[in-house]
Amino acid sequence: MTDRSGHNPAAGFRKDVVGYCDPLSVRAGETVHFKLSRYGEGVITADVVRLSSGDDRPHGTGLIEEIVAADLVPRDVGLEVSHQPLRPGSYALVKDFPPVASGSLQLYCQPTLVDARRQTLVCNGTLLLQVSALGFYAVWATGELFLDTAVVSQRWYKVRLTLGVDSRLEVTRYAAGRAETDRTDQTEPTTGCSFPGGDLYFAASAPGEGHFNGRLEAPMVVAGEPGGSTEVVAHWDFAADIPAQTVTDISANAYHGRLFQNPTRGVCGHLWDGSVQAYAQRPAHYGAIHFHADDFTDAGWHNTLSWQTPRNLSSGQYALKLLVWAEGEIVSDEYVPFFVRPGQGQRRNKVAYLVPTATYLAYANQRLAFVPGPFGSRRLHHANDAFLFAHKEVGFSMYEYHADGSGVHYSSRLRPILNMKPKTGTWAFNADTHITAWLDQRGEPFDVLTDEDLHLEGAAALAGYRVVITGTHPEYYSTRMRNGLSDWLGRGGRLMYMGGNGFYWRVAFQPDNPAIMEVRRAEDGTRAWIARPGEYYHQFGGEYGGLWRRLGKPPNELVGIGFAAQGFDGGTYYRPAAGLSSDAYARIAFILQGISNAEVWGNYGSQGGGAAGEELDRWDAELGSPAHAVIIASSENHKPGMLRVKEEFHMMEPLGEDPKVRADMVFFEVPGGGAVFSTGSISYAGSLAHAGYTNDIATITNNVLSRFLDATPFPMPGDPVQV
Ligand SMILES: [Fe+2]
Repeated sequence: MTDRSGHNPAAGFRKDVVGYCDPLSVRAGETVHFKLSRYGEGVITADVVRLSSGDDRPHGTGLIEEIVAADLVPRDVGLEVSHQPLRPGSYALVKDFPPVASGSLQLYCQPTLVDARRQTLVCNGTLLLQVSALGFYAVWATGELFLDTAVVSQRWYKVRLTLGVDSRLEVTRYAAGRAETDRTDQTEPTTGCSFPGGDLYFAASAPGEGHFNGRLEAPMVVAGEPGGSTEVVAHWDFAADIPAQTVTDISANAYHGRLFQNPTRGVCGHLWDGSVQAYAQRPAHYGAIHFHADDFTDAGWHNTLSWQTPRNLSSGQYALKLLVWAEGEIVSDEYVPFFVRPGQGQRRNKVAYLVPTATYLAYANQRLAFVPGPFGSRRLHHANDAFLFAHKEVGFSMYEYHADGSGVHYSSRLRPILNMKPKTGTWAFNADTHITAWLDQRGEPFDVLTDEDLHLEGAAALAGYRVVITGTHPEYYSTRMRNGLSDWLGRGGRLMYMGGNGFYWRVAFQPDNPAIMEVRRAEDGTRAWIARPGEYYHQFGGEYGGLWRRLGKPPNELVGIGFAAQGFDGGTYYRPAAGLSSDAYARIAFILQGISNAEVWGNYGSQGGGAAGEELDRWDAELGSPAHAVIIASSENHKPGMLRVKEEFHMMEPLGEDPKVRADMVFFEVPGGGAVFSTGSISYAGSLAHAGYTNDIATITNNVLSRFLDATPFPMPGDPVQV
């Protein structure tokens, strides 16, 4: 793959095997299944490692791992791995559709990416109904119809194909505005078009073939001779069961179908007129399904290797480590991380690291690092980015667009995720290993659990833990995750929020498959794309999407601070708060024990050179930050690129000194004896390891964890002191 100048930036990087696993989180004693695919030659050896740090940059914490199960296959034989394809493209499949010799097929369609290629609207055996920029086509074993009409993206069309002796194609183009009128064209009649019967596809000819980009609505098949009686064979109502991966035939024959690769549902159909905004209010306006040739939520690979975790395996962050060898040398590697919780009935540690897997899904396979612009450059830095660059078919993150220009609403862990690994950029997963590395360096035993576990189990997933530690960027929260964390905190929990821009977007998980996550980027916020009008409600569960801040549950209420600013041109330091009351000082004295008398903290670190950087959160009473929270320190002197979040601008104004661009490090007590410590910065964890963990940031963090581990309740300020 080359760019315009003929240069191949991926040259020189090797990735000979890639994989994913299912489940991502198991309890000790349960089995993880690894699904791998081969892309190059070589003998593959397989170990399981406990992964402490994946930051292998020269100035990073290093790659720190420990083998816990060596040689899952004999080294001289190697692991047998075949190539398994990545086949993107969503579609609907109705099995065993009957032959229909005479009658009609009708549907509504809105193409969103028309070009010279033919895209398939409906396929049944040899019968194809297709569209291209030039017109509509019906093709069958013995004949063909072509309706010559310019097809335009984003326009709705009603397509009617008559079957039998009077086979013809009739297309009504709906007007785009008041100055136009609807227009109907039709072909000359011919004969012999029919449904041969068998598997019926919508939006594809077969998996991976002829995929359609656009919306389909209300397909209907009617049987009957011209002039005689007719019978509805099937009439699919795409507004029925919108949260599900099924399509419903509302005729008496019940030819229901299934959806594959998560096309977008809960989207506006041809009837939508702006009178409602939620599909639940008037489903008839939401009768469309939006298919994309590049939708991809399940690679569907078979298991290459399964590993039953030992019953006594410590809870933690692990990875299958694959090395590819040629002539006695390692030529490439692959890590497939997974998370192990304590086994049923096994003793738990006091500390839980809540792995932000929802964030990992949102960023899964994001390519911003090598798209020239504010977040990256054309240069590829490692084999994982090189694979992403060369293999679009591995699917997108929620920060990207489909080829037709619509935002990517779904992400999934049932596919290789090239940036959820060690030895990648230090964002999300790999940046979070700064936290696991710190806990290990401290010698702190800790359990892990994932966002998915929290979503499925709510507060029960956290019960029994005294301290919960977040990752650097726990940005995506479902309602059940947020309620679960909040409920646990209300029962005396102690929460260490170790990052920035947390608890920001509401997300939803597929009801019958939590491996798949949905976001609707509604109305406002720092958005990679914007959901279309009328489409702000999640398909999964029907909740209104968007920022938790706009939904009345700002992060400030939960963790004392909320998203304030973003910038990637370097970090800075925190300045300890001046003039704290003696009462406030007494409440945070435990945090300040043993720190140096430096004027500022954290003016160092591997993430942009300072503990305060990338994305920042600040205390703000107007946004629900607790009044009794103590601001321990605030960042200052940010680089010019650190700009306030757009959701706080009512209209544009010249930028100047902005006192609201800052990270606030806060502490506050919660009713029930618990407490929250929040760092307010994504870069914070990158400063922990500075000077061999001998620094103020590490000391502060260690002090917080040590006190949070102590069962002594935190009294609320003003409460009578218990004696
Ligand atoms: Fe983010």
